[in-house]
Amino acid sequence: MNNDGTVGVILAAGSGKRMVSNIPKVLHKIAGQPMIDHVIDAIGQIKLSNVYVIVGHMEDEVRRHLQDRGVKCVTQRERKGTAHAVMQVRKHLRGYRGDVLVTCADTPLIRAETLKEIIKRRKMHHSACTVLTTVLDSPTGYGRIVRNRDQTVRKIVEDRDTNQYEEVIREVNTGTYCFDCRQLLKALEKVSKDNAQGEYYLTDVVEIMWREKLEVEAMVADDASEVIGVNSRRDLAKAENYFRQRILNQVMEQGVTVIDPSTTFIDKMVRIAKDTVLYPYTIIRGKTVIGEGCTLGPSAHLLDATLGKNVSVEHSIVNQASLHDGARVGPFAFIRPGTELGKDVRIGTFVEVTRSSVQAKTDVLHLSYVGDAEIGSQCSLGTGFVTVNSDGKLTHTTKVGKKVYVGSNCTLVAPVKIEDGAHISANSLVGPGNPDSSDKGVRKGKSGVGKSRKSREKRSK
Ligand code: UD1
Ligand code: CA
Repeated sequence: MNNDGTVGVILAAGSGKRMVSNIPKVLHKIAGQPMIDHVIDAIGQIKLSNVYVIVGHMEDEVRRHLQDRGVKCVTQRERKGTAHAVMQVRKHLRGYRGDVLVTCADTPLIRAETLKEIIKRRKMHHSACTVLTTVLDSPTGYGRIVRNRDQTVRKIVEDRDTNQYEEVIREVNTGTYCFDCRQLLKALEKVSKDNAQGEYYLTDVVEIMWREKLEVEAMVADDASEVIGVNSRRDLAKAENYFRQRILNQVMEQGVTVIDPSTTFIDKMVRIAKDTVLYPYTIIRGKTVIGEGCTLGPSAHLLDATLGKNVSVEHSIVNQASLHDGARVGPFAFIRPGTELGKDVRIGTFVEVTRSSVQAKTDVLHLSYVGDAEIGSQCSLGTGFVTVNSDGKLTHTTKVGKKVYVGSNCTLVAPVKIEDGAHISANSLVGPGNPDSSDKGVRKGKSGVGKSRKSREKRSK
């Protein structure tokens, strides 16, 4: 390892008891991503020589999640406290003369800029430890920073171990520190578990260093919301809210209009191009990508969707589907996985589309179900259009050519193919083995069911 560099250690082994959950705490999601991913993303931006994640509670799940994330997992068999957690990487750090950045996986709002700054500060001041602190109105639950008269840091006292003077201190430990590796390893040897919880506290190294006359410096984070620690569901909701504000501010800076930020929810991975307008009660999740000039909402719910330019979605759900330029969806439509809507397609009220492609300029405007279908361009599928895609065991495909007109209340029983330009009269039931299909105004074409409107018109003349 490069001795001028910095090694990262992320603490993630705790049991997270206060979450009351069967899921490991660090895998609880904020803005659509597990908490630990946010911390790894922030650390990932500062190019450290190695990043170790201390795992323990529900280790298998956490390790599985961290595969391919470019971090090394180290097991802490018994959870004996945060100092004990850091001790698990001792063997990897022996002889290393660089810095060690320690942070917690339950501090998901931490930013790369802050981590960079704390590393820079430690180097500048040659301190044994630079600890990131913040000032809170209600510091309950956090370790308090006890300073000497000259303002240098003397020790950190855990909430449960505070006396009446320490209890009222509002400057708290955020759980992020940058250490001189050699001083950290020396101090860790001296940590005892003589405290209210009977644990080895990492925070104790601060007082140990102070007694050795080593410098411990505090770097105060101005924005306390960045360093919120998530221990309970209430903290989780608070962190979610802060993260949401951060994302909303980012998208607005990038030229997106958010009519009501208080009712708009956007996940971290979502990308939105400029001049898109988000109306209230809009939720955009997963890896959704949205082009320029779209109008979403009120009440649009998008998950892993891809939208081109000038698409509109109103009072509707779009899940794992791709909507090309100018497509219009809703109100009250459900666009399900595997759907592709071509340019200027219109999907109207109470229409469900699943595993289907609908080509450019086709309209499905009222009360319809389109499942496992390939619909051509410039078709008009009337009110009550239904594809019967399942025979109870297997699903079958419906194919409709281009410029097909389907009157109201028609049912196509798959597998079935409608030729280009066909005209299907209202109330038709079309499909394999259906003896009534011709009586309902549908004529058989050469290859499949249906005949063009033009030829029907010719015949009737
Ligand atoms: C810790 C700090 C406290 C600080 C707060 C900031 C200690 C003793 N206290 O308290 O000063 O104000 O964070 O959020 O460090 N962990 C392990 N192994 C263990 C115990 C914990 O890996 O044996 C991990 C947890 O998974 C968690 C992190 O360490 O990610 C912090 O542990 P937690 O129990 O949440 O400590 P806090 O009480 O929040
Ligand atoms: Ca915590």
